[in-house]
Amino acid sequence: MNDTIRDIISQRQSTRNFSDQAVDTEKLVEICQLSCLAPSSCNSQPWRLHIVQRPSPKVPKITEACQTVGLNKFLNNVCSYIVVEQTFGNMKSKSGGFFAGNNLTPIDIGILAAHICLAAQAEGLGTCMIGSFRRRTILKAMGFGPMRRVRLVIAVGYPAPDDKLRDKKRKDFGETICVEK
Ligand SMILES: Cc1cc2nc3c(=O)[nH]c(=O)nc-3n(C[C@H](O)[C@H](O)[C@H](O)COP(=O)(O)O)c2cc1C
Repeated sequence: MNDTIRDIISQRQSTRNFSDQAVDTEKLVEICQLSCLAPSSCNSQPWRLHIVQRPSPKVPKITEACQTVGLNKFLNNVCSYIVVEQTFGNMKSKSGGFFAGNNLTPIDIGILAAHICLAAQAEGLGTCMIGSFRRRTILKAMGFGPMRRVRLVIAVGYPAPDDKLRDKKRKDFGETICVEK
């Protein structure tokens, strides 16, 4: 396997210890543009990415929204977020998924999110995907109406100098990978 890919995947981890160094907006735009090359069902690209950075007043509001269930205290000094909004897939993707009994949109969003985290890793940035927020509080933080759908928030920033690479804790591969005969 290409060493670069191997390094990027194995060195990515959820960063929960960010430095307060700001990230260039252009860098975040580039990461988002690259990530939008991710595959999606019928190329529907059912997403819109919102780059939110300090000093936007939305940053502390997003932080608060992501802490409403009592988790994610580490977000207090995060400088940048990428907020992943789900938009409408195209009809082909929707009907294909519907008839197959498979809602493909969350899969598309997950693949996009993985691309974002890996692209950020390649730029020396840390990320943490945040899924524990209440729907209404995050919509309010973003100033969105009730019909909009925020699926994921990704905290992005430079890891603090003392944020070391942790050992990966994963299920035994025997449990998660089978070579079928
Ligand atoms: C959809 C999703 C939602 C997540 N939500 C949170 C979260 O709210 N807070 C948090 O600290 N980590 C969150 N994580 C990070 C996971 O806890 C983490 O990926 C997992 O424990 C594996 O650790 P690693 O990312 O360091 O390899 C989330 C990850 C995913 C994929």
